[in-house]
Amino acid sequence: MPMDGLPHYASGPVIKGFGRGSKQLGIPTANYPEDIVDSLPQMLNTGVYYGWANVDGGQVYKMVMSIGWNPFYKNTKKSMETHILHTFPSDFYGSLLRVCILGYIRPEKDFKSLDDLIAAIKSDIVFADEALEQNEMLQHKKDQFFQTNNVED
Ligand SMILES: Cc1cc2nc3c(=O)[nH]c(=O)nc-3n(C[C@H](O)[C@H](O)[C@H](O)COP(=O)(O)O)c2cc1C
Repeated sequence: MPMDGLPHYASGPVIKGFGRGSKQLGIPTANYPEDIVDSLPQMLNTGVYYGWANVDGGQVYKMVMSIGWNPFYKNTKKSMETHILHTFPSDFYGSLLRVCILGYIRPEKDFKSLDDLIAAIKSDIVFADEALEQNEMLQHKKDQFFQTNNVED
């Protein structure tokens, strides 16, 4: 079911987050600077989304993204955090991250424990992995958006 404001394309450098992503959760996330978060369409609610992503014009991978205030951590600043379904050899702070947000999974929630948060994110990943196999979703993987100004060329 298509949602208002989607697909949404965003592109910008990866900045350092609070650093909890990889260390505490074992699920690394890439953070965007404030101006990219601020340019999200107003109609796009906070919550967990899925879509495609690539780094520095490289291969396009599946991703899950959390948009909001991370109630579990009670952040005061709205963030867009992308977890790419691929294991990268090292951090890529400063690299250009492109994302195409295609679908909504669930609202952001507070959890009783870190384990519950991790379990929820793991189930988001399974959901995204399957949803992105649909033909209409796979088509976006080939979007010109991911290929332009390819820094590897
Ligand atoms: C797919 C996904 C779903 C998430 N869902 C929630 C959530 O429901 N509630 C929450 O408080 N944080 C949620 N988060 C955010 C994590 O708490 C956050 O990624 C973690 O704190 C790491 O942040 P960092 O950038 O500070 O390292 C989610 C993150 C991802 C990638």
